[in-house]
Amino acid sequence: MPTMRTPLPMPALLAAAGLLLGVVPAAPAEAGLTKLPFGTVDGKEVDLYVLTNGNGVVAKIMNYGATITELDAPDRNGNLDDVVLGFDTLAGYLQKEPYFGAVVGRVGNRIAKGRFTLGGKAYQLATNDGPNHLHGGNKGFDKVVWDARVVSDGKVPAVEFTYLSRDGEEGYPGNCTVRVTYALSGANELSLNYVVTTDKDTPVNVTNHSYFNLGGPEKGGILGHVLQIDAERYTPVDSTLIPTGELRAVAGTPMDFRQPTRIGEHLREVGGNPTGYDHNYVLNGGGGALAPVATVYEPNSGRVMDIASTEPGVQFYSGNFLDGTLTGKKGVVYRQYGALALETQHFPDSVNQPNFPSYVLKAGRTYTSETVLKFSTR
Ligand code: BGC
Repeated sequence: MPTMRTPLPMPALLAAAGLLLGVVPAAPAEAGLTKLPFGTVDGKEVDLYVLTNGNGVVAKIMNYGATITELDAPDRNGNLDDVVLGFDTLAGYLQKEPYFGAVVGRVGNRIAKGRFTLGGKAYQLATNDGPNHLHGGNKGFDKVVWDARVVSDGKVPAVEFTYLSRDGEEGYPGNCTVRVTYALSGANELSLNYVVTTDKDTPVNVTNHSYFNLGGPEKGGILGHVLQIDAERYTPVDSTLIPTGELRAVAGTPMDFRQPTRIGEHLREVGGNPTGYDHNYVLNGGGGALAPVATVYEPNSGRVMDIASTEPGVQFYSGNFLDGTLTGKKGVVYRQYGALALETQHFPDSVNQPNFPSYVLKAGRTYTSETVLKFSTR
């Protein structure tokens, strides 16, 4: 039986040697967690936490943005590929880039015109996405250094990141403490657990913004990936991607992923500028208890990713705005539809939409959220 030791000296040495030689080290045969220095931001140390589960799955997560920088998963022949977009160096993440792998907040997704009213008080946030507020503003949770603590339990390597977002930061009310724990199980499940508290009522909608390509980003785009989403309805949007408030049936529309469907099958019919999926789905589970969200299958590699969450919605984004201007790990140019995001969350602009489930966290209360990504093959 593999035993969990933290840190594991041999794999750490091998990993460090591998990095020096520029080769991807073979996955350690044991579950464990190692920490590697990755640079500094704002005078604070940034480290990579390398979680391995002994079955080949490796998750690398850094405390800048609580960002997943690498996720290796075996294909049906046991070959590993890194299935998320990102950069080899910290500098890559410090340029303008679309939230690769990061935790976004305080409110992920859009708030119309950056405005909302809470407790009779009007708030104006940064408008950093056309007329709207997106992913927490100019310096959201993705652009700060979080505190990190190893919280491995038995054979399950785990790391907890904590960030205190102060009252007024990016225009939001309340001192808000955000905690996210990543754990990698022996069953190839990467779980993300969020716990948030505040001392003033505030909107909170945190999610991880990983871009997945289960075939390996270097091998082509995601139009051939087969997707199934557990949702009968979605939230249609206006031209600036703000929901109209309607919950519309997916039946008979290009939005219908109730049955496994190739992403490229109806993508051109979706519309939008640029065309593609960038929509929130109303999950059948309704939020609260952990329930199925979506399954992604990549036929060439056989990789499967099952997502479950306690959130009521998921934003399916087909990488429409990737335009070939960014070059990531292994020198891969990130082109349109080169990866997909499935961001488990509350519906966009909920703070202004009384008929959507509320994400307002009351002072003194605790917000919790869990999402599990399970990797397997067919
Ligand atoms: C949004 C997209 C946006 C992307 C990167 C997604 O969550 O829905 O519209 O381009 O994030 O910012």
